[in-house]
Amino acid sequence: MNVSLEDAHGRTIGDLRVSVTDRCNFRCHYCMPAEGMPWIDRGEILTYAEIERLVRIFVALGVADVRLTGGEPLVRRELPSLVARLAAIDGLEDLSLTTNGYLLAGQAEGLVAAGIDRVNVSIDSLARARFFEVTRRDALDRVLAGLEAIAAFPAVRPIKVNAVPMPGFGEDDVLRFCELARERRFQVRFIEFMPLDGGRAWRSEDVLSGAEVQAMIERIHPLRERPREPHATARVFEFADGEGEIGFINPVSEPFCADCNRLRLTADGKLRTCLFSLHETDLRGPLRDGADDAELERIIRDAVWRKELKHRIDEPGFRPPARTMSAIGG
Ligand code: GTP
Ligand code: 5AD
Ligand code: SF4
Repeated sequence: MNVSLEDAHGRTIGDLRVSVTDRCNFRCHYCMPAEGMPWIDRGEILTYAEIERLVRIFVALGVADVRLTGGEPLVRRELPSLVARLAAIDGLEDLSLTTNGYLLAGQAEGLVAAGIDRVNVSIDSLARARFFEVTRRDALDRVLAGLEAIAAFPAVRPIKVNAVPMPGFGEDDVLRFCELARERRFQVRFIEFMPLDGGRAWRSEDVLSGAEVQAMIERIHPLRERPREPHATARVFEFADGEGEIGFINPVSEPFCADCNRLRLTADGKLRTCLFSLHETDLRGPLRDGADDAELERIIRDAVWRKELKHRIDEPGFRPPARTMSAIGG
């Protein structure tokens, strides 16, 4: 019997992104408004036991990669205890975390001991003032300390740094990131700004495309593209002199939906089959009402079958999802 999770477009699911909280200690412009974000009630948030139960079901259906996201996942109490529960699941091959790094220095050791395999850290500028402007927090040094703290564990590799270039992002920023990629061997990735911001201010004119950033880099550092890994978000390049690598996540200018193998579970237990889904499938309700694994599997299979073919950013009639990035889970 074929146990894998298939959609109607011939794609097989292998990756689940689990948001553990919608809360965050930053207020990045491309994600949240400065204030006034409505929070999900605590009672609606899945417990760690509930997350583990659902992840076990997804893994039994062929999910091998699980990424913990937020909001900011490290603001959720005792995250390493969830990592330990998930790391113990047979068949889960890659357990990763995407964080803004603010609390990472204090938690790196616990996360590694609990079994985290990989960590991606979001850093939007390596210049203190600009970092403050984008995140609304004066925290660059603390985030860099977090990045170094996790890098001190050689088993946690590769380490990726995510940067969303916002208007005003210039050659200085790009070059600083190239130095970081080359000297510290982090894979720095530039992500195109998507219409998921809490302020609903996204305009296509504000998107600095991956091609534009790449052109800035190539004026100084020639790049050589690596073959694309299946289902990857990023196009990865190495510097032509072999000193490090850099990536471009271009969801707006070069959508990568065709071989998307991802699902998302929100902190309140809704299954989203696309970052841009307008429809969600509730798993928490059935779970709390006592559904058995077979029943949950049926609900998941039905939802996955209807997975969206692609997002329609910038097409006529495009509607962004009601939830914004911090509530969906990057
Ligand atoms: P790796 O496995 O380490 O390459 O991670 P990743 O790129 O899948 O995850 P990460 O959390 O670092 O996300 C990087 C960026 O890719 C974020 O802006 C995500 O929102 C975006 N991203 C991840 N999955 C999708 C997706 O399915 N669609 C779109 N459009 N963007 C996505
Ligand atoms: N567009 C693109 N990337 C975004 N992220 C958050 N909001 C947006 C957006 N509107 C990124 C964060 C983080 C990842 C999980 O998602 O920078 O690296
Ligand atoms: Fe917080 Fe991440 Fe959103 Fe920034 S992108 S406000 S760090 S959830």
